[in-house]
Amino acid sequence: MRAVELIARKRDGAVLRPDEIRFLVDAYTQGTLPDYQMSAFLMAVFFRGMTPAELAPLTSAMLHSGDVLDFSDLPGRKVDKHSTGGVGDKISLPLAPIVAACGVRVPMISGRGLGHTGGTLDKLECIPGFSTQLSPSKFRELVATLGCGLIGQTAEIAPADKRLYALRDVTATVESIPLIASSIMSKKLAEGIDALVLDVKVGSGAFMRDAETARLLAQTMAGIGAEMGKDVVAYLTDMNQPLGIAVGNALELREAIDVLRGGGPADIRELTLILAREMLRLGQADPAEAERALDDGRALQRFREIVEAQGGDVRVIDDPDLLPRARHVEPFVSTRSGFLQAMDTRAIGVASIHLGAGRHTKEDSINPAVGFMMGVRLGDWVNDGDPLLFVHHDGVGLEAARAELSSAFTIGDVRVAPPPLIIERLEA
Ligand code: URA
Repeated sequence: MRAVELIARKRDGAVLRPDEIRFLVDAYTQGTLPDYQMSAFLMAVFFRGMTPAELAPLTSAMLHSGDVLDFSDLPGRKVDKHSTGGVGDKISLPLAPIVAACGVRVPMISGRGLGHTGGTLDKLECIPGFSTQLSPSKFRELVATLGCGLIGQTAEIAPADKRLYALRDVTATVESIPLIASSIMSKKLAEGIDALVLDVKVGSGAFMRDAETARLLAQTMAGIGAEMGKDVVAYLTDMNQPLGIAVGNALELREAIDVLRGGGPADIRELTLILAREMLRLGQADPAEAERALDDGRALQRFREIVEAQGGDVRVIDDPDLLPRARHVEPFVSTRSGFLQAMDTRAIGVASIHLGAGRHTKEDSINPAVGFMMGVRLGDWVNDGDPLLFVHHDGVGLEAARAELSSAFTIGDVRVAPPPLIIERLEA
């Protein structure tokens, strides 16, 4: 097969055969297809898109470029959740232990902060000693015994995606629905799961700003899952304001622990339970168990066991004051009275990065203690001088964060209705 012919056919709008797609991905992973040819192919996909018949082999080739975990010897269906990323999205932290406590196994492989959004791994690593880099055998042991392990992607999982993503990042081909969908699904399906719940974020703090694009991404991912024999349910959920109150790693972990204790902000509890019920349904367990496991302490106990098994200091669960805390807390106040009509949630995420809660470059280390505690929600009335949020900082990046926040809040005379948390549920 000649790569240049396949590139030309995709450029001209033809549909490639599965063996042709596999050839391109395999050759690129093995290093025999140069970056310039793969870049041209990616750009052709960017403009021409891909049919479902092309997407399944693309995803499969990326998935099989490395290790595919196999938990089929463990009883029951294995189910995971993936969020496309948002600000204050700490849902995985309470969700995974709830579902595991109800008897459905959750082999969860999470990521770090990406762009302006936070990542589950960075939040978990606020727990002293907690390791997200477990050996495959240790991960398997946790999934077998506790029903859940919480780890990061390894070099062996979907290495083709790793290389392709890095290339897309520098060739302006990240924002392509088929490429995003196959990238996410190849990593998730490498977990050896039977079913997946997708939380596709929509709004000012999401990668997808409008419901139409988010719906297309959700349908594309669900379609790939269906082609590959997996049950996928997607939710489009609101990201026009941070989820919950806390933004920043240790602050979010504290909030997640509050939720596991039966408290926490209403939106976090609600979304966690909606996704937990869906995961239990897909895992053929009783969805009603989710709320019971949260309220009777089983989910908190399971979280404690997971933290202990992954080397973390469980004392932080009983005494979250042991978590890293910023040296300074100061309000960021409104300069006028009115109703909070809109938030630039992306700017809030970017402002938290200036404080050190996220990375400007891959090599940066993060400050787990810093971030924001939101003081307002959409639709609230605020007075001139009221705190819009509280900045937790260690003296770094404060001016840049303030500059970013200065235009992040739209306050006006007309009250807007707060957006619904759940926009839509869809299946393949
Ligand atoms: N996240 C991924 O894992 N892949 C993409 O292509 C975009 C976001």
